[in-house]
Amino acid sequence: MSFDRRIKIAPSILSADFANFGAECQAIEAQGCDWVHVDVMDGHFVPNLTFGPATCAAIRPHIKGVMDVHLMISPVDAYIDAFAAAGADVITAHVEAGPHVHRTLQAIRGAGKKAGLALNPGTGLDTVEYLLDMVDLVCVMTVNPGFGGQKFIESQIDKVRRLRAMIGDRPVHIEIDGGVTPITAPLVAAAGADVLVAGSAVFKGGSVTNPGPYGENIRAIRAAAEAAVKAA
Ligand code: DX5
Ligand code: ZN
Repeated sequence: MSFDRRIKIAPSILSADFANFGAECQAIEAQGCDWVHVDVMDGHFVPNLTFGPATCAAIRPHIKGVMDVHLMISPVDAYIDAFAAAGADVITAHVEAGPHVHRTLQAIRGAGKKAGLALNPGTGLDTVEYLLDMVDLVCVMTVNPGFGGQKFIESQIDKVRRLRAMIGDRPVHIEIDGGVTPITAPLVAAAGADVLVAGSAVFKGGSVTNPGPYGENIRAIRAAAEAAVKAA
């Protein structure tokens, strides 16, 4: 996984057909996505439940590119090795998930994976200030985590701009998660984000038997974001 700041579209399979994850992952990659974003929820850290490492391991062979695993679970440390063994390329934990974020990042990198830190909308950037040399990605949540299809929270655009300045020359991705559409993608791309997670905006109108709309949706988000980067 080499580093660059080009716009990357990461569909969240939270909006896919849960009975067809393998085929859905193949479909979104064939339709031009860059990463596959996998939302793990525990019904405790967030008020929703999805799946665990066994499901991640089962879908891994159906993903050719980057498997980006977003852990919305607490505690998190005890499960890192299981998600690493399941084949995640990036493992992202929340700064709010426990008191020892530094240790969590050490564990992710110790397992040989790229380490991500996610921030809820109410969490300030001071929480990552002393961790920026230990991360490969910071995920700015632009909705409260737990569900797809929520409204983008505008106040986070300023957070992205400030985070981009804090990161400087470090090879750290800024990922946006929640409410990304062709309307909101340009706002965060211009502010410095490069990985755009999108669930409902990618999967709407398509299916594994009719995947064309996935491609149209991915291209629309990418074009809007790239135009904004060029103009910035
Ligand atoms: C929210 C998840 C997101 C979500 C995004 O808790 O982390 O990845 O699926 O969904 P949309 O794009 O529909 O807001
Ligand atoms: Zn996510």
